[in-house]
Amino acid sequence: MEILIAKNAGFCFGVQNAIDKAERVAEEGRGVYTYGPIIHNRQVVENLKSKGVDVKDDIDEVKEGDKIIIRSHGVPKKEYEELAARGSEIIDATCPYVKHIHKVVEEKSKAGYKIVIIGDPSHPEVKGINGWCDEKAVIINGEEDINKIDSKLHRICVVSQTTFNEEKWYSIICRLVRMAREMLIINTICNATELRQKETMELSKQVDVMIVVGGKESSNTRKLFEISKSNCDNTIFIETAEELDLSLVKGAKKVGITAGASTPDYIIQNVVDKIKEIDVENEKVSSKEVLKDND
Ligand code: F3S
Repeated sequence: MEILIAKNAGFCFGVQNAIDKAERVAEEGRGVYTYGPIIHNRQVVENLKSKGVDVKDDIDEVKEGDKIIIRSHGVPKKEYEELAARGSEIIDATCPYVKHIHKVVEEKSKAGYKIVIIGDPSHPEVKGINGWCDEKAVIINGEEDINKIDSKLHRICVVSQTTFNEEKWYSIICRLVRMAREMLIINTICNATELRQKETMELSKQVDVMIVVGGKESSNTRKLFEISKSNCDNTIFIETAEELDLSLVKGAKKVGITAGASTPDYIIQNVVDKIKEIDVENEKVSSKEVLKDND
């Protein structure tokens, strides 16, 4: 059996950066919190708790002197102000790519553009972006939302949730182009998402069994599962190695592994190690990273 691991499986740069920051701050002392769970992965949140980084979900729980880490998704502008007004120390771990979107929507809304965000309105990143243009953006999650756009509007500036599906983005943009006299299009889909989706697409066509590892709450991991399932019927979605039923993998010649941007390397490695247990029954198992040449 051969195990093929997608090269970019697991943490993206923004998530890694946020977790590193949280761990560094925790080393300096107590009273460290993330504002909401740092990522959609229970194991990572629990691991941080064991190192002294707890979670505060509600701004009303924040007290003077708390060190509050803003996660990679970012938050609305008014929440920075409120956190500061409560006397907390803000440690900003917003991903720089998300920060860039905040800057764009703030500038362009002030310049008179109507901001359109293509993304999921319930996602914290989208709520955060909307909070940098006075929460006046039109949010489009699918083509059915396009009639929210006031056809009398002349100037619109369109940005995207960083993890939005690229194909869906292009089809929405094509519809919007016909409705606006002046349209500023800023494609803010993150390369990390695109890479993981492309690798999953390729890998799932080559293997007998595909394993997608990540939090059940993670939208980018769910998306990888959907992509994989469309090519490989034997796609399994697991959160940890413990959930893996080896009988579903046994007998496969090639097993592919991919993981969402919020899955730590050690969980991926645990899955690989668990599959290697099949070796005990004399089935030779080797693993390697694939798709290196696509960089
Ligand atoms: Fe940042 Fe892209 Fe990750 S926007 S948080 S590097 S998916």
